[in-house]
This record gives sequence, structure tokens and C-alpha cells, in this order.
Amino acid sequence: MSRLILALDVYEREDALRIAEEVRDYLWAIKVNWPLILGSGISIISELKERTGLPIIADFKVADIPNTNRLIAKKTFEAGADYLIAHGFVGRDSIKAIQEEGEVIIVVEMSHPGAKEFIQPTVDKLIELANEIKPFGIIAPATRPERVRYIREKVDKDIKILTPGVGAQGGSAVETLKAGADYIIVGRAIYKSKNPRESAKKIWEEIENGA
Ligand code: C5P
Repeated sequence: MSRLILALDVYEREDALRIAEEVRDYLWAIKVNWPLILGSGISIISELKERTGLPIIADFKVADIPNTNRLIAKKTFEAGADYLIAHGFVGRDSIKAIQEEGEVIIVVEMSHPGAKEFIQPTVDKLIELANEIKPFGIIAPATRPERVRYIREKVDKDIKILTPGVGAQGGSAVETLKAGADYIIVGRAIYKSKNPRESAKKIWEEIENGA
């Protein structure tokens, strides 16, 4: 099974469906984020699922009180999403409210420079939270393999580590997998490429040969 996830951050429905179909053979799942939902509507989730047959991860980085998290989660899973990404810093009760509706993935650290300001100092507590409530997975940054290694050592083995930041943000798929990631998330390096299928194939081969 592939370990590559496409971050499909385009606005237009037609672009999203075309790219998804072109690259689906090399993917484990497709991650949708606000740009695509705001551009094409929530129905794009079920359309992508029907066209590709792949799991859909809704990267809404939900961060609200338990009741609002639950309301958001209900609609997201009803729309066909298989996983919902949420922030852990809002606390256990908010995450548990999502888990009552479906599979959750918690952001433990982020891949951009600003992550050092607030998220990084709380990583240990977020790992503790993950080990306690057992989400499907957590998000860690491919831009910092040493942080992936640190997180892998501390987080339970059956919790998957998904890592964005490969390609456009400078991270390497092979280094990140060696550090302990389970899945690699790639956006621009695939969807902005002149030939998305070729680019996805190249990263897939790198993953297969290098990890
Ligand atoms: O285009 P690129 O490959 O940089 O896309 C990365 C994707 O992963 C984007 O959808 C971004 O919002 C998301 N993401 C991230 N870092 C995180 C969590 C999510 O880059 N910590």
C-alpha cells in the first residue's frame, strides 16, 4: 500500500478531480483543506471518494469547544470524510467530542517556521494527550526530521505519524520516513507540477526505494 497522501489545495472542482484521477494510483489517501472546500463546496469530498476510491482526510484543523467540534465533525463525516484533523491544544474534551463521531488526527507540531513560537513548546503535552486518547494518527513536520524522530520515540507505536512539508517546504520524504513517519503528505510539488502524475510517481518511487 502507498504511503503517499496528496494535499489537494486547489480551489476549482474540475482541477481537483482531474489531478486526483491522474495521481490516484500512487496514493494512499487525499487530504482536503479549506482552499478546496471554500472553492468547491463540501460535496467535493464525496466526489473525490467516488472518482478515486481513496480515503479522504479533512484537514480542517478544528479547534473549538466540544459542542462546536462535535457539530463540525458530524457534518464532515456525513459528507464522506474518513478522518478529521483537529488541534490538540484546545484540550481532551474537545478532541473526544470528535472521536464520538469518527476518526481523528491530532496536530502535534507544524511544519512552518512560526510553529516554534507556540506549538513546539507544548509538543510533550500533546503527545501525552495522543497516547491517552489514541487517535488514528498525529501530524508532525517533515521539515524537521529530528522532531519526527523525537515524537516517534514518545508516541505509541499504533498511532500513525503523518508528515506534511515534503517538496515545496523543503522536507525530504526519505529522511522523514527514516525518522519514523508512516505517511508523507505532499501538495504543491504534485498539484503545481506540469505533470502531476509523473511527480507523484517520482515521490512514490523515492518512498518505495528509500524507506
Ligand atoms: O504544498 P505543501 O506540500 O507544502 O502542502 C502541505 C499541506 O499540509 C497543506 O495542506 C498544509 O496546510 C498542510 N499542513 C502543513 N503543516 C502542518 C499541518 C498541515 O503543511 N503541520
